[in-house]
Amino acid sequence: MFSVLKPLPTDPILGLMAAYKQDTNPNKIDLGVGVYKDELGNTPVLKAVKKAEAFRLENETSKSYIGLAGNLDYCQKMESLLLGEHKTLLANRVRTAQAPGGTGALRVAAEFIMRCNPKATVWVTTPTWANHISLFEAAGLTVKEYPYYDYENKDLLFDEMINTLKQVPKGDVVLLHACCHNPSGMDLNEAQWKVVAELAKEVGFTPLVDIAYQGFGSSLEEDARGLRILADAVEELIICSSCSKNFGLYRERIGACSLIAKDSATADISNSVLLSVVRSIYSMPPAHGADIVNTILSSTELTQMWHQELDEMRSRINGLRTQIKETLATKDIAQDFSFIERQHGMFSFLGINKEQITRLQKEYGIYIVGSSRVNVAGVSDANIEYFANAVADVCKS
Ligand code: LMR
Repeated sequence: MFSVLKPLPTDPILGLMAAYKQDTNPNKIDLGVGVYKDELGNTPVLKAVKKAEAFRLENETSKSYIGLAGNLDYCQKMESLLLGEHKTLLANRVRTAQAPGGTGALRVAAEFIMRCNPKATVWVTTPTWANHISLFEAAGLTVKEYPYYDYENKDLLFDEMINTLKQVPKGDVVLLHACCHNPSGMDLNEAQWKVVAELAKEVGFTPLVDIAYQGFGSSLEEDARGLRILADAVEELIICSSCSKNFGLYRERIGACSLIAKDSATADISNSVLLSVVRSIYSMPPAHGADIVNTILSSTELTQMWHQELDEMRSRINGLRTQIKETLATKDIAQDFSFIERQHGMFSFLGINKEQITRLQKEYGIYIVGSSRVNVAGVSDANIEYFANAVADVCKS
């Protein structure tokens, strides 16, 4: 049976991780996969996480199953983190299932959409996280794109985006990145979110918000503003969240899929379908990550500690954005990189071509995604000059 298979190329992001590991260049820099790195290039376990894990080790009393929706306290804490004290929570319109990472949440959402309307098209930004497209298609959904990033002016194609979204058929789903757009770093502002929210209501599409970087853009609250504006306006909303980045829990695979329904009774029915989807994919989520997040968010002391650590990660990234812009400006390069400072989160496109990307990797051991997406957090005081000189060199010739 297996002999009919043809080999597939490695994943464009995860393949880079493996190639970087094998590179023996002592100056190599990993700007590929979206993982936060500190000044020393490490991705340490957050102190708040360590404390919560120590608590768990002492206090966990059973390894029995945790149920289809996972840890219900965690689910409730995630709803508050995402929505604050939103009217949809007060009206009991929100249901959440813990999921194995943001990707797991997206797959659950995809299967849920299939149950609602197998003919639905999911509209994604051009460009979007490469896995979005394969993930929805793997669930059997059609994926189409709407204009988003203006490669030439390093800005949003907002008018084009709105013109396309106006044509989306009722019953389709529109995926929006809540903050820190992956891969462009270009986010909607508050006024733009309001336009999208009104449009969703008018046209009748269902927004699906992917929020994988809450706290990495401006703040936990600010980064959820667009999501909350949508929740103010529409009757139905799907939210896929992740604790990989903001809690640094990447390998624990912890996220959530939340549904906002038009009323409490519809939320219950939708939840029964959501849980049946979960049962048919992986039965139940793993416990560890949810327990850690729940322990942190249940303790004032650990929450404060986590906020501080998250603030540090965000400040470092924002500081690096300025530093990269300034350092590149000191080099003899025709391109203007000032847009890097205006964008948010871990990623920006450098805007260089394939040949230049290959040269960065082969000649300098600098790994960036083939789309020219760089993970800003991989830059440090120790490597910024090397990085800027390398960029200048490949841009010159
Ligand atoms: C990324 O975009 O680099 C991350 O979200 C990791 C991944 O799974 O692709």
